Amino acid sequence: MKKHILVVPGDGIGAEVTAVGKQVLEVIAQKFGHEFSYDEALIGHVAIEATGSPLPAETLAKMKEADAILFGAVGHPKYDNDPSAKVRPEQGLLQMRKELGLYANLRPIKLFDELLDASSIKPEILRGADILFFRELTGDVYFGKRERIDEGNTAYDTMIYSKYEVERIVRKAFEAARTRSKKLCSVDKANVLESSRLWREVVQSLAPEYPDVTVEHQFVDAMAMLLIKDPKRYDVVVTGNLFGDILTDEASQIAGSMGMLASASVGDSTGVYEPIHGSAHDITGKGVANPLASVLCVALLLDISFGLKAEAQTVIDAVDAILKAGFRTRDIANSTTPADKILGTDAMGEQILQRLNA
Ligand code: NAD
Ligand code: IPM
Ligand code: MN
Repeated sequence: MKKHILVVPGDGIGAEVTAVGKQVLEVIAQKFGHEFSYDEALIGHVAIEATGSPLPAETLAKMKEADAILFGAVGHPKYDNDPSAKVRPEQGLLQMRKELGLYANLRPIKLFDELLDASSIKPEILRGADILFFRELTGDVYFGKRERIDEGNTAYDTMIYSKYEVERIVRKAFEAARTRSKKLCSVDKANVLESSRLWREVVQSLAPEYPDVTVEHQFVDAMAMLLIKDPKRYDVVVTGNLFGDILTDEASQIAGSMGMLASASVGDSTGVYEPIHGSAHDITGKGVANPLASVLCVALLLDISFGLKAEAQTVIDAVDAILKAGFRTRDIANSTTPADKILGTDAMGEQILQRLNA
């Protein structure tokens, strides 16, 4: 298979982890006889520094031409600590999602058994947890009208959803539920928010079309509690942009670490594969970032954008094997991990590559 992949490392640890992801793609291509070509483009803080824009026109053009995009992260403390900055790295990410029509963000939360003791949640609560989040990605308060008024003393953001936006993501979630355990949980705040009442109405109106799927509704506050209390109760979860952002960072504790969670952003155009973590400037340049989220992004990319299921499984199996062999990055190690098994980003990448080449 011949494919063109755009690597967009972005900021902070984005460059460190996508470097490993790209090497995995190269080894997979070699092993399975595919021809992958690559290009790189700027986004976020590095793009602002180079061009003044967080999503330069050249990057967007390259994104539209690519068959798939391996994304790193955006963000820089300079902006996090300066609320008045008008041009911000995160605008690049949001504009990319909007421009490419990436309305569905799939966030699989799957615990590798070997990491049962990496989480602060009790192993008996976690064992067997496997949730697939569908986070709506191009609507909600992220893209509603926002303004500073009253001479800057008042600010508002608008939480807004249209029926078609809810319908298309909810349908994707129903379809996925059909192929899994036929349970769908929709999360909203319909006891308070009008946009959530519309959301719930849409889910209820679609449910009769999927009679084989059992639908549960939860309010987002209760869901935040239930996810940790009993993660195995959930299979496919669908929710809006903001709630999905927050709940999946929380759910990363089910999988052990933010450094383990990959996601697929799909919709109308080129699919983007992005770890759920950010640029993590607290560890940038230290060589300790966990590259496995990026490696698992590669698995999602191969599967969803290219339909290469065996190749994707090979990548997942390599991650599993490395964890079984006891190797850990710092974020998934615990007090019983032997010091010589705690690896940096590159050494962890090296282990994965060796396993793939074996
Ligand atoms: P973050 O995800 O960058 O970091 C949160 C914590 O998790 C940090 O302690 C970090 O060291 C740790 N962590 C994250 N990824 C890790 C990895 N691969 N290996 C080991 N540890 C890891 O979130 P934050 O600190 O809230 O945000 C930092 C910046 O990143 C902000 O500017 C934010 O806007 C941005 N951000 C970007 C994205 C994205 O590009 N998709 C996502 C989230 C946050
Ligand atoms: C994510 C991030 C982004 C989001 C930010 C950086 C805009 O937190 O991808 O989860 O909120 O969508
Ligand atoms: Mn997030």
